[in-house]
Amino acid sequence: MGTLKRLGVFDSGLGGLTVLNEICKYNTGLDVVYFGDTARVPYGSRTVETITRYAEQDVRFLLSQGVEAILIACGTVSTNCLPALTKSFSLPIVGVIDAGCQAALRSSRTKRIGVIGTRATINSRAYEHRIRELCPDAQTWGVECPLFVPLIENGFAPDDPITELTVDRYLSQFKGAGVDTIIMGCTHYPFLAKTLQNHMPDVSFINVGKALSYGLKEQFDLPRTQTPNRVSYFVSDEDTGFLDIARRYLDAVQADNVQKVNIDQF
Ligand code: DGL
Repeated sequence: MGTLKRLGVFDSGLGGLTVLNEICKYNTGLDVVYFGDTARVPYGSRTVETITRYAEQDVRFLLSQGVEAILIACGTVSTNCLPALTKSFSLPIVGVIDAGCQAALRSSRTKRIGVIGTRATINSRAYEHRIRELCPDAQTWGVECPLFVPLIENGFAPDDPITELTVDRYLSQFKGAGVDTIIMGCTHYPFLAKTLQNHMPDVSFINVGKALSYGLKEQFDLPRTQTPNRVSYFVSDEDTGFLDIARRYLDAVQADNVQKVNIDQF
């Protein structure tokens, strides 16, 4: 494959925007098609079979838009479906696990590392396995946080008392573990980064999108032009507040138009 002309990025909903924002911050000349499966979010509490079926449809939609490579901007799909997707499709497909684990190991002094993610992500133990492959002495703790995605998708503010209480409930499970680094293993979680950090001020929280964006040039032959990045946005359900949240959150790329896709057709 020559220089990448069009990159497909997808997530179950809004979460992938945190990855998109980071890749657009550190790269130029990108032509991106973003798909958020807002009709079927959350993925993280479903079975691996269902998540894989959804992810395959997401990839087929992106292929219909002429993408030449795919970035899975979703921890749940990256941890549960990457082998199945790379088997089913011939284009390059990259997930967020490896970059997230490498960044965590760079950041951690004690090699006591936590992972927070959806139920499917934590059940897969994919982050933990990768960390130990890279550093056999590392110790890991996984905590599932199934309420975070619905809170974010429903627009609960990071400082809303219900968000605070939920963060407290989940993070208290790290008590006594002595972790110095926690991977936000779900791409929605950077929306809660400040709240997470306030609850554990001495811990480094790893944004997997940020970790991935630095190394994107090593994964793909990216365009070398300085032209501004261009993104087309697609969702599978209307009026989900996607554009509002995208506008509020994204600072490295514009969101001015979202089109609806009937994902059942793919
Ligand atoms: N952003 C997805 C992830 O990274 C959210 C999963 C979900 O829809 O539950 O895991």
